[in-house]
Amino acid sequence: MNFEKIEALNQEIDLFPIENKADTENFRIKFLKYEIKALMEEIKNIPAEQRKEYGIAVNATKNKAETKWKEAQEKLEQNEDSNIFDNFDFTLPIAAHASGAIHPLHLVKQKVIEIFERIGFSVADGPEIEDDFHNFTALNFPPDHPAREMQDTFFLEKNPDILLRTHTSSVQVRMMQSQKPPIRMIMPGRVFRNEAITARANCIFHQVEGLYIGENVSLVDLKQTLYHFAKEMFGEGTKIRFRSSYFPFTEISAEVDISCGKFSETTCKICGGSESVCKGSGWIEILGCGMVDPNVLEACGIDSEKYTGFAFGMGIERIAMIKYQIKDLRLFTENDVRFLRQFAGVL
Ligand code: PHE
Repeated sequence: MNFEKIEALNQEIDLFPIENKADTENFRIKFLKYEIKALMEEIKNIPAEQRKEYGIAVNATKNKAETKWKEAQEKLEQNEDSNIFDNFDFTLPIAAHASGAIHPLHLVKQKVIEIFERIGFSVADGPEIEDDFHNFTALNFPPDHPAREMQDTFFLEKNPDILLRTHTSSVQVRMMQSQKPPIRMIMPGRVFRNEAITARANCIFHQVEGLYIGENVSLVDLKQTLYHFAKEMFGEGTKIRFRSSYFPFTEISAEVDISCGKFSETTCKICGGSESVCKGSGWIEILGCGMVDPNVLEACGIDSEKYTGFAFGMGIERIAMIKYQIKDLRLFTENDVRFLRQFAGVL
């Protein structure tokens, strides 16, 4: 009769479902702690001649239960979190989650693209390694003209014809050569100038240039476009002013400043009132622009009698420095996470 009990228990052990931590523990308590112990205590009631056999059978059952329990235990350890909810304290605070951040130069580039795409500009790209024609000659830089020295150039392979582009105006040339007006495009990209690296200059930086060629494109269009851009980028109350300037590829040419908060009722959003960026003037330079010189249109195969156009170009680093009050350009390339992390969630 006692042997039947053992047999029944063996079956029960086999069939007992263990799915999780709680089952494992229930199994241990039921079989190892009580049932098998009870069978062992029973041994004193077993007739002497059967005791040996009985003992062997109970031992086998005990081993069976222990093996099953150990296996379940191991499985749990390997798979700790699969049953995470068994013993989960839902009142625990959430573990801090470090999200990544978008690089500030990328943020600004995307914002510029977004602003101009909404008013009908598309995005164009071009090579970083250029020839003299696209970077200078087509843009009305005469040979040996001192204007070439405004942009200290990296030449490649000792060949003065092949260089790293000094501005993304080279992409404008490529677009004018390959497209029929109206052309309305912006060209974001990396540019290179042979300059010492300081807090305010780097030999590699980023620009976005814009180009609009069509019939009757006028200075008013340029002004309105840039005014719209300034408000979208720096906030509704932003004013702009044009200062006469010189670029070989535009006639007339101007530099554009935005108003900072110096003369407004509220604290300056750019420097917080310290005047560190505007140097007390209330104005901050953000870009160069002008009406495309007819010589440039002709060099690119566009009829300058029929079409006019405007162009502008800005440094992405400069816009980012103004927008996020960054004092040193080198921070953009040092990849210090303490700097980069500050842009998590900024859009
Ligand atoms: N290419 C000029 C620069 O790199 C910027 C510019 C573009 C100025 C278009 C006027 C018009 O400085």
